[in-house]
Amino acid sequence: MKKIVIAAVAGICAISVWAGSEAAYPAAWKTFTAVNTPLMEAGGALPGCDADVSSLPKVYQETVATYCAVKEGGPGAVEILVSPSALATYKARNGTFQDGDTLILHLKELQVLFVTSYKDHKPLYGVYDETGKDVASAEGSGLHPNDCRTCHTGYEAFGINGQMGTLK
Ligand code: HEC
Repeated sequence: MKKIVIAAVAGICAISVWAGSEAAYPAAWKTFTAVNTPLMEAGGALPGCDADVSSLPKVYQETVATYCAVKEGGPGAVEILVSPSALATYKARNGTFQDGDTLILHLKELQVLFVTSYKDHKPLYGVYDETGKDVASAEGSGLHPNDCRTCHTGYEAFGINGQMGTLK
């Protein structure tokens, strides 16, 4: 019994450090609509990790650094997927997302989904592999919901209510 209690306490501590994804796994992600953003027009891939991004806005410099932390050399091909319910708001870029509205940055080569989904009109963040395994990581790793929030909510000039990319 004592062992079980210790294991349970250790488990809770591990969870509070690791935290995991806030947004739920969007099981229907394959049915979402791919949108065309400036990122897609730049070739559907984020700049390589050794690219000179010093002339770009700071938000993009930090974004490149974040995605390079995911995989050395950069994550490779990406696409942005939007749930049917969120499409009109995404396009209008007015931040009026409803419960369950979901946006995905799909790292295609890594088979990873960066997920933003909405509850009470506020963005929640998560990281999953394509099969739904939660792969969010410790705070500061770039793969923790708070890391996502720092950038997505922090750069107000670039984002609106958690949405970053603009439609072209
Ligand atoms: C340092 C900044 C930064 C961090 C950290 C960051 N992102 Fe992003 N993210 C961006 C930018 C910039 C775009 C828009 C790219 C484009 O389309 O031009 C974006 C796009 C997205 C999109 C596509 C929809 C949209 O908002 O345009 C999703 C979903 C997303 N990110 C989720 C996440 C998640 C989940 C995390 C944390 C694991 C995360 N992001 C971390 C900057 C960041």
